[in-house]
Amino acid sequence: MASIRLLQRKLDGAIIFREPASDPIPAYAILSHTWGNEEVTLQDMEADADRSKTTSKAGWAKVQFCADQAAADGLQYFWVDTCCIDKKNAVELGAAINSMFQWYQNAARCYVYLPDVSKSEGASGGRAWEEAFRTSRWFTRGWTLQELIAPRMVDFFSAEGHRLGDKSSLAGEIQEVTDILGRALRGDALSSFSIRERRAWAERRTTTVEEDEVYCLLGIFDVSMAVIYGERRDRAFRRLEEEIHKLYKGIHFEQYAVGFSLSSFPEAAQFVAREEELSKMHELLHGHSSRAAVVLHGLGGIGKTQLAVEYVRRHKEKHTAIFWLNANDEDSLRLSYRGIAQQVLQCHPSTSVLSSVDLSIRLEHYR
Ligand SMILES: Nc1ncnc2c1ncn2[C@@H]1O[C@H](COP(=O)(O)OP(=O)(O)OP(=O)(O)O)[C@@H](O)[C@H]1O
Ligand SMILES: [Mg+2]
Repeated sequence: MASIRLLQRKLDGAIIFREPASDPIPAYAILSHTWGNEEVTLQDMEADADRSKTTSKAGWAKVQFCADQAAADGLQYFWVDTCCIDKKNAVELGAAINSMFQWYQNAARCYVYLPDVSKSEGASGGRAWEEAFRTSRWFTRGWTLQELIAPRMVDFFSAEGHRLGDKSSLAGEIQEVTDILGRALRGDALSSFSIRERRAWAERRTTTVEEDEVYCLLGIFDVSMAVIYGERRDRAFRRLEEEIHKLYKGIHFEQYAVGFSLSSFPEAAQFVAREEELSKMHELLHGHSSRAAVVLHGLGGIGKTQLAVEYVRRHKEKHTAIFWLNANDEDSLRLSYRGIAQQVLQCHPSTSVLSSVDLSIRLEHYR
């Protein structure tokens, strides 16, 4: 684990970086938020920076909020990802990404700042903020998953800085929104959740940079790997899977994997993303744990095949196997099923359910 660069709120309210020292890391609070415009950077916090410029940035409010809340909880040190990592230093950034889960885990308290949830002090509406809480952007982002899971104590705050509750008192709501079991929120070891379960937690979350969809999961799977921006999501996922495989030999979901290639499918020269349909499909197929089917129908040439291909391209790493069937007529469908049996047996020769299938048999015999 890389050493953490903390901010310190002095008694007079001034905020400075903690002197790098060899003594043990003091107790600290940690901020969890979603990135917005005008975030405060490490350079903005340096001693020679123009502080009036720094404090006039939109992102300053949450830094100040974190400092004040930490002080209220008796903590003079705190950490905010926007300004406590030197993002211009690729080595430092890589080390930070590989350490961040532990940094959240080791924090005395974690404050979740939700600018899209408003709660006025003493409002008569009771818990009117709950609806906004459920639909907060915070639940849709990749990085916030580990920020919810890793720390022991997670407190949620409204845009005004009013406390909404903690991950224990809001467990019911959080579970509803995230599908994360209560025992994971209570701090049960991540190793007691299958890889598949943990992957499901991240499924509907997104990140601004595509590779981050993978890098934000390193701590969740307890692996580390080099951070290579530009490698693309798919390659990063492959590397993540390799790391997971090394760690969880034998119980890895890859043991059910059947290779699938998209190379034989024609790709539209200028694919127009159909985000609405794609996310609807994803919601229908992944929003739950039961079996599901989505049927794409419409006139010939309307783009059904391309839509399916794009869906597979985006989500193939979330599946152990993907099969393509030709259902133009009965014969092609039968041939497709035979092809699937062949593929499964090729990858998993010991699959007992298919061992009685005679693949050399001619098509007519299936009728
Ligand atoms: N999203 C898209 N962006 C750009 N071009 C597209 C898109 N979807 C489809 N096309 C173009 O339209 C053509 C027909 O699309 P596609 O084969 O997906 O339709 P289909 O509904 O599956 O047709 P059929 O009913 O004949 O199977 C494609 O070859 C492609 O060139
Ligand atoms: Mg088609």
